[in-house]
Amino acid sequence: MKVSLNLENSHSNDVTIVVDALRASTTIITALENFQTIIPVKNIEDATKLASENFAVLAGERRGAPVKGFDTGNSPVEIQNFSGEVLVLTTTNGTRILEGLKSKVLVGSFVNAKAVAEKALDIAENHIEVIMAGVNGRFAIEDFLGAGEIISHLQDQELDELALASVMASQDKIAVNEAVKNSKSAQGLYELGLGEDVDFCLKRNLYDTVPVYKNRKIRRNL
Ligand code: MLT
Repeated sequence: MKVSLNLENSHSNDVTIVVDALRASTTIITALENFQTIIPVKNIEDATKLASENFAVLAGERRGAPVKGFDTGNSPVEIQNFSGEVLVLTTTNGTRILEGLKSKVLVGSFVNAKAVAEKALDIAENHIEVIMAGVNGRFAIEDFLGAGEIISHLQDQELDELALASVMASQDKIAVNEAVKNSKSAQGLYELGLGEDVDFCLKRNLYDTVPVYKNRKIRRNL
């Protein structure tokens, strides 16, 4: 099985794992403990409309901060206080990236690294690609290290060079935690008083949940 790591989808893979470690992936994985369905939406207006039509909980951020009028932010810590049938979620990078992916799409992070790797291996035929959401299309160290944590469970496979580099970089957990806490994304969250989210996003294998994105909706497993 080929395993590659990329900032963009190469479209030659049959399974994609999307990683937005701080925080969209982690919020989605956590929210599936209390919600049946998550609908990721690109813009605030559509999210608001969809949530009121579906009597859904409405969550999201812009520049990291909760959106005015929403029930909650894109926070894995806060989302645990909510439950229901449907969660509508809009975030800057993570939810946008899901659109346009044609393969089978899974959502991964530190909190479900082992489970998402195993599920990908289970359903892929020849090529798993891990996509780092990044920040505005640019590299973000937390996604690279989160990807490394996931790919370290796929080490026996045929890794491309970036995938291999991510595994090597993610070996020392203390160094990983420090690098993620020092990342630009984490610094932004600390400034907003959301440091608890950073600690939560760094928990390893807290969940067996593997979110699957299909027909514009995210649900548990396949
Ligand atoms: C995103 O999707 O852009 C991020 O998860 C931003 C955040 O909420 O920290």
